[in-house]
Formats: sequence, C-alpha cells, structure tokens
Amino acid sequence: MDDQARAMRVFSGIQPSGGLTLGNYLGALKRFVSLQESGVESIYCIVDLHAITVWQEPGELRFATRQAAAGFMAAGIDPGRSILFNQSQVSAHAELAWLFNCVARMGWLGRMTQFKDKAGKNRENVSVGLFAYPTLMAADILVYHATHVPVGEDQKQHLELAREIAGKFNHDFGVEFFPIIEPVIEGTATRIMSLRDGKVKMSKSDPSDMSRINLTDDADAIARKIRKAKTDPLPLPDSLDGLEDRPEARNLVNIFAALDDRDPGGVTNEYGGKMFSEFKPKLADLAVAKLEPVTSEMNRLMEDPAEIDRTLGQGAKKAAELAEPILAETYGIAGMIRSR
Ligand code: AMP
Ligand code: TRP
Repeated sequence: MDDQARAMRVFSGIQPSGGLTLGNYLGALKRFVSLQESGVESIYCIVDLHAITVWQEPGELRFATRQAAAGFMAAGIDPGRSILFNQSQVSAHAELAWLFNCVARMGWLGRMTQFKDKAGKNRENVSVGLFAYPTLMAADILVYHATHVPVGEDQKQHLELAREIAGKFNHDFGVEFFPIIEPVIEGTATRIMSLRDGKVKMSKSDPSDMSRINLTDDADAIARKIRKAKTDPLPLPDSLDGLEDRPEARNLVNIFAALDDRDPGGVTNEYGGKMFSEFKPKLADLAVAKLEPVTSEMNRLMEDPAEIDRTLGQGAKKAAELAEPILAETYGIAGMIRSR
C-alpha cells in the first residue's frame, strides 16, 4: 500500500429499500471491491435509517437489509478486511446527524434535487426525515472522519452539501476537526440508465421491472430484459462520437464496457457497424456470465440469515469503536458536558 492509500479512509452506503440493481452493482459494489483490493481502509454501510425516510414495511426492510449484506459479500466485500454493517446498529450516526441538523440551513436542504424529486407536489406530507436525509448522510461519513466517498453521479449534490456542513461546523466552532471529503465518481458506470428510457437512471423504485436488471434475476430474465431493451434502428457507430444523441445505445455500450472492465471506446471499436440484433445477445451472454456467480452466491448466503446478522453485528462493533471517540470529541467541541 502506498502513502496515499494509508491516509485514505473510504465510506459509502446503500439503502435497503428493495433489491439491488445492475446500477448498484456497477456504480457502487464493483468499485467498492476494487477499493478494498487496493488496500484502502473501507467502511460500507447498509443505511436502514435512510430507507425509512419513505415507508418500509418492517418485514421487507429486514429482508432487504440481509439481502443487501449478501449482495456486498457476493460481490466481493470481505467483512474481515472491510467493515460491513447496518446503520441503525451504530447510534453515533443518528446522534451526529442531530448536531448537523443544527448546523445545516433549511435553504440548503430545500435545494436538494433528490428531495424535490421524491417529494414532488406532496411537500407538506412527506416525512421530516426525507427533508433531513442529507444531514444523516453527512454524519455517516464524517463520524468516521472518512476522506473518500465512492458513489454514483446521483449522489454528487448530497456530497457537496456534506462538505458545506463540515465547513460550517469547523468555521462556527473555530476548529479544523472534520476533513473535507472527496467524492469519488469515476469510471463508465457512474450513471447506468433505465433499459426502457436512456434519459432516466436505472432504479429499484422504477415501476417497470423491465427497466432494470436485478441482482436476483436469473439468466432467462437477464437475457429477456436485454433483448427487449429500447434501442434505435441504426447500427452501432465505430466511435463514441456517434453515440452522443443516442442515449439508449450509449447506455448499452457503457454497461458492456463496465461489465467487461474496458473502455466504452474499445466496445465501439469492436462492434462498430454491427446491428443491435447481433450486439444484444453478446451483451446478454456477458451479463449472465458476470452476474450469475454473484446471484448464486447471494442466494447461498441468504439461506443462513442468522449468519448474516452475526456478520453485521461484528461489523457494527468495529464501526462503533471508530465512531464513538469522534462523536465524543464533537460533543465536547459543541459544549456538551460528558461526565459519566
Ligand atoms: P441507492 O440504491 O440509491 O442507495 O444507491 C446506492 C449506490 O448505488 C449509490 O452510490 C448510488 O449512486 C449508486 N447507484 C444507484 N443507482 C445507480 C445507477 N443507475 N447507476 C450508477 N450508480 C447507481
Ligand atoms: N444517499 C445514498 C443513496 O441513496 C446512500 C447513502 C447514505 C450514502 N449515506 C451515505 C452514500 C454516505 C455515501 C455515503 O445512494
């Protein structure tokens, strides 16, 4: 490990609100695994407190939390080397979030596009938690003094807000306590789009199941969804320039590249001039070959939920050991007496 890797601490989170998608796999999990492999200290969290900002049926939340844990491990996160746990087991997150609720300004939160999208015209009736979502996210990261946060493109604005919160806290109390965090949004998979519409992101909450590949889909479902994916009648171009106004085609090229660990340019080089009727079966074969081992390992892990719970408990213990001293110091800076 080089000096830079030693000075880094990575934190990231995934919500257990429904199953994991190909977007989560390529945009998050696969990148988390390469960070772990590069030897950087990494903390990965299944953010159940974030999930409940919109209604979750308790039994489904429990299932989705275990399934997300199985997804992390099946993708290659090793709980012996990285810390893996669910958020609500480490109370420091919620406690620091409260302090940050008193640092962040209403106006900052009101500008968040994710809040505006999720609340829509229903602003008066969404939960207070949905509004305060980004302060909890800032707390998740900063309670570990994490420096680097790998996420997909959609989380960029939340990370900018986390930087603002850290900056205002440091400024208000005249300290240099919280680090300035670096978003890590790189590679071809930072925004995997819906298979039905190249202008909206692939998401677990899209009403159409044909819009996404779930990590629980079997080979037939994957092949069918790729075969039916929206495209255009033109052949693939032989360079990326030819994809500028063809979002659906661009998305399939990106997915191919990300699954195969190569540049999208290499994909258009190889498949330029070919029709989608030829490209899609190749993409389906590739997707099945890469995802099938992950899905079957996830299914195997899900057969023993008690073991998953034990792993999450052990991860939470390690996480709490890192978070608690930082939280205590934060309370001290803010003037809270801690005398027991
Ligand atoms: P979520 O499922 O919303 O909790 O997202 C967990 C992580 O996956 C975040 O880093 C997201 O940015 C990332 N992610 C979710 N959907 C996509 C997508 N369609 N493309 C790329 N990354 C995504
Ligand atoms: N908001 C993120 C999402 O929906 C999940 C998340 C919560 C997160 N806390 C985080 C991501 C801290 C990175 C760091 O995708």
